[in-house]
Amino acid sequence: MPEPPAGRGRPAKLDPVDVIRRKRDGERLTDADIAAFIAAYMDGAVADEQAAALCMAVFFRGMDDGETAALTKALIASGRTADLAAIPGTKVDKHSTGGVGDKTSLVLLPLLAAAGFSVAKLSGRGLGHTGGTLDKLESIPGVRVDLPPARFLDQVRRIGIAIAGQGPDLVPADGRLYALRDVTATIESPALIAASVMSKKIAGGADAIVLDVKVGSGAFMKEVAQARDLARRMLAIGRSAGRRVAAVLSDMSQPLGHAVGNAVEVAEAVATLRGDGPPDLAELCLTLAEQVGADRARLRELLRSGAALDRLTAMVEAQGGEPGALDRLPRAPVQVEVAAPASGFVTGVDALAIGRAVADLGAGRRRKEDPVDPAVGVILHRKRGDAVRAGEPLATVLARRDGEGVAAVRAAYEIGAAPPAPLPLVLEVLTG
Ligand code: URA
Repeated sequence: MPEPPAGRGRPAKLDPVDVIRRKRDGERLTDADIAAFIAAYMDGAVADEQAAALCMAVFFRGMDDGETAALTKALIASGRTADLAAIPGTKVDKHSTGGVGDKTSLVLLPLLAAAGFSVAKLSGRGLGHTGGTLDKLESIPGVRVDLPPARFLDQVRRIGIAIAGQGPDLVPADGRLYALRDVTATIESPALIAASVMSKKIAGGADAIVLDVKVGSGAFMKEVAQARDLARRMLAIGRSAGRRVAAVLSDMSQPLGHAVGNAVEVAEAVATLRGDGPPDLAELCLTLAEQVGADRARLRELLRSGAALDRLTAMVEAQGGEPGALDRLPRAPVQVEVAAPASGFVTGVDALAIGRAVADLGAGRRRKEDPVDPAVGVILHRKRGDAVRAGEPLATVLARRDGEGVAAVRAAYEIGAAPPAPLPLVLEVLTG
């Protein structure tokens, strides 16, 4: 009998070298090629060097929406998927492509829980200059993020919110491929990033997903056009999986809010939930919440009444936090002010430079297994557009040793004679 034509559903007899060669030469791969390649990689029949070669071929040749959706499906099929069917109401999730001072999850998710959504959020750790929600949560005394699936689901059902680590059994193929991409210069492929992110979101089981795609020096995507392309790809994948997805492109040329670190960011999130946080953080959280259907006036009321903070407190307690833990966050022993070298206006606070300075203080990690220091960080007193006089504080460095980080934070600031043109925080909103 003749072989059925290549395409959806054809059981593939895999020749990994042929798949790599075809992508290298710019051909489109079939769903079956992609499914068989990923399955064989997980079985050990495809070697690391072959998977790395395919990633490099994709880096140069790209993947169309159909291929990217097939890759997402193949990644999901490598492990367990969360079943949230027993949880009533709309299950929501969010993802940020990573930034500096990005404590959005710690504000947005309790706010959504207070608004009646069920929040079952699987988060990651910081790597390089970007922070991670799990590290921030673990800076709260007693809090655990390694919740077994049954306990995680029970918590969402009881109090409407849980934030935990992903665990090794959800999309394990992404874990292996990401580690390989990290050491083969193949992270920066829009198709691979979109499939990697969306495989985890879809396996996490949410009905509605909001994506915060950061743009600027502190983000993966330095240009709006790149960020828009990534967002469009992620929306297409979400749609093909039957999820409601929206994406917000937001500025990451300077850190979000004033605090950068772990415990300092938790403190800033708590202040924002009390209605007393930085306006940019509050505005971004309200914009993101609106994308899953929440009403802005009601969200403001939930902040004002303390209902949103109450959900964070309940989550902290459910995950092992000591009573009053949010008021007893660790603070580094040395606090040094960084003075402005000249009078004028702040024309830029380089997010990447601040992120690196904070990581060097010990708040971030170079390798996945490095520990992080919960207590160190930076508090920015001046941001883009603010006036400053020579000698006034630009920022405070929270460190373990005197002098650490001061030069790096000072160098991240640009001061000019005239105020800079305003830069919008929310650059675009894309919906499915
Ligand atoms: N974050 C992910 O989860 N995957 C990528 O590929 C890049 C960033």
